[in-house]
Amino acid sequence: MKKLIVGNWKMNPQSWDEARDLAGSVKRTMSRVKKTQVVLCPPFVYISPLSGKVGGGLFLGAQDANPLALGSYTGEVSYSQLYQFGVSFVIVGHSERRKMGETDELINKKIKSVISGGMKAIVCVGESTRDHNGEYFGFVKNQIILALKDISKKSIDQIILAYEPIWAIGASASMSPRDLHEMSIFIRKVLRDLYGVFADDVRILYGGSADRVNADSLVKDGNVSGLLIGRESLKSKDFVEIIKLVDAI
Ligand code: 13P
Repeated sequence: MKKLIVGNWKMNPQSWDEARDLAGSVKRTMSRVKKTQVVLCPPFVYISPLSGKVGGGLFLGAQDANPLALGSYTGEVSYSQLYQFGVSFVIVGHSERRKMGETDELINKKIKSVISGGMKAIVCVGESTRDHNGEYFGFVKNQIILALKDISKKSIDQIILAYEPIWAIGASASMSPRDLHEMSIFIRKVLRDLYGVFADDVRILYGGSADRVNADSLVKDGNVSGLLIGRESLKSKDFVEIIKLVDAI
């Protein structure tokens, strides 16, 4: 299975010129990238003008989508509208959206819509703090079970699971590859208990202060299929370097 690097631009960059240049530099790199898929998740307004720039291992993703196809929902954008502009991945349940009130039930609904629309859902889970008793394992397990409720074995290859511990997002350091390894084994077990051998089709990503210094060891020693990157995905040089490093693993 190919590795995956996802750039979550969040509400950045400020101008279209910067967005275009950023996507352009990633696109130019892709001809030398063989084993890794790259997904750019820009703000909605940049999706349409960027749709011509994808292909060759580079994909467009959205940071969220309304699970309904259309209707009177001011300010919302539906998954089927995004699909028409070449969006093939949608981030669902990012902690920054959960903080705005998104529930496990809504996240489950969104994932089902993304799947039925023929796209892939990047499902985010992760605890806000760590305790000595390891209760965060139970918390993450519960988030996974609720997110994937009633999602069948035949759709599971449309799921990508992004483990993003909230305490490591936007922080000064990522989690250690050793701790990530432990969590990735745990998540794999949770998925196997739910889906048997089909669980092996799910790529597990890590997100939270990943950068060009830690990318290689997070993926290699952390035992994950790739990274979900915030800040460093906005620095074209660093992001391109991360892509190359991960592709070389
Ligand atoms: P940072 O890489 O800026 O820590 O953000 C991680 C993230 O939230 C990606 O979705």
